[in-house]
Amino acid sequence: MCEPQTRAADDPDRPPKRTPPDPDPSGPPNPGGLPLLGNVHELASDALDFYERRAATHGGVVRYDVFDTESYLVSDPAAIRRVLVDDHDRYEKGEMPRSRLGGLLGGGLFLAEGDDWREQRTAMRSAFFRERVAEYGGPMVDHARRTAASWDDGDVVDACDAATDYAFAVLAESLLGSDVERERETVRAAAESVTERFDTRRVTSFLPEWVPTPANRRYRRRVAALRSTIRTLVAERRAAGPPANPAAASDLLGTLVAAAEVGAMDDDRLVDNAVTFLFAGHETSALGLTYTLYCLAHSPAFQERVRNEVAALGADPEPTDLRECPALTAAVDEALRLYPPVHSFFREPTEPVTLGGYRVPAGVVVTLSPWTVHRDERWWDDPTAYRPERWLSDGATGPVHGDETPGPAVGERPEYAYFPFGGGPRHCIGMRFARQELRLATATLLRRLRLEPVTTDLSVRASANTRPAGPVRVRVHTLDESPGATESPDTS
Ligand code: HEM
Repeated sequence: MCEPQTRAADDPDRPPKRTPPDPDPSGPPNPGGLPLLGNVHELASDALDFYERRAATHGGVVRYDVFDTESYLVSDPAAIRRVLVDDHDRYEKGEMPRSRLGGLLGGGLFLAEGDDWREQRTAMRSAFFRERVAEYGGPMVDHARRTAASWDDGDVVDACDAATDYAFAVLAESLLGSDVERERETVRAAAESVTERFDTRRVTSFLPEWVPTPANRRYRRRVAALRSTIRTLVAERRAAGPPANPAAASDLLGTLVAAAEVGAMDDDRLVDNAVTFLFAGHETSALGLTYTLYCLAHSPAFQERVRNEVAALGADPEPTDLRECPALTAAVDEALRLYPPVHSFFREPTEPVTLGGYRVPAGVVVTLSPWTVHRDERWWDDPTAYRPERWLSDGATGPVHGDETPGPAVGERPEYAYFPFGGGPRHCIGMRFARQELRLATATLLRRLRLEPVTTDLSVRASANTRPAGPVRVRVHTLDESPGATESPDTS
C-alpha cells in the first residue's frame, strides 16, 4: 500500500498554504418570498420544481423561507460533503424534523442526537452487518417469487402497490418478525396518514403536527394506534424470551429487545425504533423498486440485458451473486438517481458555519436534496433520462463497481453528486439491506416476467418521500421459459 507522502513545513517545494477566502458576511442569495408565508406557496405548488429552479438560478447555497423559518437549500456537492462528513459534528438533525416527525418516530435512531444517537446506532449495528443482511436474501427472493406467481400473462398491475406489499412483507419477516403481518391494516392506515400529512401540495403540511388540522388529527390518531400495536408486539417478543445479547438476535426486533434488556435503551426507545424502522425501511425501498420497474419497463433493451445477465446465473440469485451483476446494479443505481426515494433531508447548524463561501447562521434549516443534485446537468449528461449505461464502463463484465456502496458512475464528478442514502456517520443504516433487496427483487421478477409500460408519463410529488402522483401501471408478460412455467411457485 502506498504511504502518503509528507513534506516538512520548511520544504521550499511545498506549495504555500492557502487560507480559504473569508466567507461572504452578507450570506447566500435571498430571492425573497411573500410576507408571512415566505416561499410556502411555491413549495406547495411543486416543491421539487421549486428546489430545482432555486438551485439552477441562484447557485449551490440559496435561502428560502417556510413561514418564518429561515432555510437554506444546499445543492453544491462540496458543501453537502462538508455538512454530512467533514463538519458533521457542527450539525444536528434539529428542531424542524423533530417537530414534524417526533410524534411518529419519537427519540428513535432517525431523530436521536449526540451520544444518545451514537449509543443507539452502536446497539443496532449488528443487525446490518453483511452476514446478517445476506441471511435476509431468502425472504427477499421468496416474496418476489410469490409476487410474480400472483400475476397472469398480460395483467396490468400497479407497480407501486405491488412494491409496497413486497417491501412490507420483506421487512416484516426479516426485521420485525412476521407477527407484524397481522397488523398490516394498522400499518397501512398509519402510512397513508403519514403520506397525507407530509404531502407538500397542502400548505398545512408545513405546520407542526400539534396544529389541529383534520389531516393532523387523523395522523395523530393512527400513529397512536400503530404505536400501541407495536408495544403489544414488543411485549409478546419479550414474553417469548429475549436473545442473550443484541448480536445473538435473529432479527432487528430481537436486537432491539436484547439492547433494552442489557440497558442500552429503555422501553420507549425500543418502541420508537420499531416504528422508525417500519417507516424508514418500508416505503423508501418500495419506491426504489417501483421506480426501477417503471424505468426498466420503458427501457426494453436494457431490461433484456439485465434479464440475460440474471438468466446466466441459472437460478434465482443469492446475495453473493450480485457481485457478478453489473447491469442489474446499474439499473437500480440509475433509478435511485433519477427518482431518489428520499428527495430531501435536513440539518441544523449548532453554530455559525461557512457553506459554499457564505456565512450561514446557527439554528436555521439546511436542506440537502438528492433530487436536485441528481438532476443537475453540471454533473449528469441528459439528467432527466434513464441511462443505466452511465454506470457501466464499456463492456463491464468484471465485479460490480459499487456492490457494497453505490457507484461511482463512469466519468468525473464530485462524490456528493449522488447521495440517495445520505452520507457521513448518519448515512442510511439500511443501505446494504435496501440495495440487496432492490437487486434481488428485480432479478427474481425479470427471470419470470417481461415488463411493458402502461403509465407513460410518470409524475411525482414530494411527501415525506418522493411518491408517484398516480398509479404506476405496467403490463406483465410471463415468459415461456420462466422458472414459474416449469416449477410450481414457492408458496410455502
Ligand atoms: C431505497 C431505500 C432507502 C433509501 C433511499 C434511504 C435513504 C435514507 C437517507 C437519505 C437517510 C439519511 C437521512 C438523514 O441523514 O437525515 C436514511 C437514514 C436512515 N435509514 Fe434509510 N433509506 C432506504 C432504506 C432503508 C431501510 C431498508 C432501512 C431499514 C431497514 C432504513 C433505515 C434508516 C434509518 C434508521 C435511518 C437513520 C439513520 C441514522 O440517523 O443513524 N432505510 N435513509
